[in-house]
Amino acid sequence: MQYPSTLIAIRDRVENALREQFSACQGPRHLMQAMSYSLFAGGKRIRPVLTVATSELYDHSLDPMPAACALEFIHTYSLIHDDLPAMDDDDLRRGKATSHKEFGEAMAILAGDALLTEAFGLIARGYATTSSSVGMKILEEIASAAGSKGMVGGQVLDLDGEGGTPDKQSVEKIHSMKTGALILASVRCGALLAEANMEDIQALTVYGESLGLAFQVADDILDIIGKKSQLGKTAGKDESQGKQTYPALMGLPQAKDYAKSLVNKAVESVDCFGHRAHVLVDLARFIQSSIEN
Ligand code: IPE
Ligand code: IPE
Ligand code: MG
Ligand code: MG
Ligand code: MG
Repeated sequence: MQYPSTLIAIRDRVENALREQFSACQGPRHLMQAMSYSLFAGGKRIRPVLTVATSELYDHSLDPMPAACALEFIHTYSLIHDDLPAMDDDDLRRGKATSHKEFGEAMAILAGDALLTEAFGLIARGYATTSSSVGMKILEEIASAAGSKGMVGGQVLDLDGEGGTPDKQSVEKIHSMKTGALILASVRCGALLAEANMEDIQALTVYGESLGLAFQVADDILDIIGKKSQLGKTAGKDESQGKQTYPALMGLPQAKDYAKSLVNKAVESVDCFGHRAHVLVDLARFIQSSIEN
């Protein structure tokens, strides 16, 4: 999977900002070590890149990095917990041993807890001096996307669904909640920081919803067609765990077509921004290219 060059510059800025934001977190040395182990293991940084790219559709003065980094902290916590024996029970993540394999289960749970909690600290500090209510809006957006009606709720439905027969409605709900919600929030936070108008927020919401769902459909496909060395995580787990996935629901070729149609919908929804939105378009096309062989 080749990351488009247009996104590399933003990803590198995110990487630097993550190091800076992490250096402001304090705690016992082995906890910090576990947090940093997962955070700096080489993720694609799609969520923070989305926040920065969306925010930079506009001319405004707020730094998108505190929100962008908070989203990556939360995403990293979700991966640490997703891999725990009580959940997907995985040994490999981002090309390295999973947190619980490296540090033990208690530390993996706590490293995840700390990343989640510190994420809200980043936002509070990052937007403390802004006069508008933008910081509060960002907090609300991220909390509701990450919480019980978003990502955590989706993870519950994902576990409940193991071994069941997939139906379209339930798979879409699981995917939109467990993965789509945080991706949508990543896009919307960029728009909220820029205080975009309602019409733009609506267009970007359609983009984020379509992209978020496309992303998890692609993740399901990669679990089947991807190689461990390329994914940095164990492939072929969804079928063995009886997960409700799009390939299980409709077959692999149809799931690929569906991902492609969602990517197209995402791309069309940002047509109204013209060339300004090229980074958002490149990111959507990157997801599509990851499942083409
Ligand atoms: C993997 O997310 C888990 C899902 C929510 C699908 P990513 O594919 O964004 O993982 P990293 O951050 O690049 O490791
Ligand atoms: C993960 O979905 C969703 C979240 C972590 C919230 P998966 O369980 O499919 O992700 P991978 O395949 O382990 O990365
Ligand atoms: Mg999972
Ligand atoms: Mg998993
Ligand atoms: Mg998966």
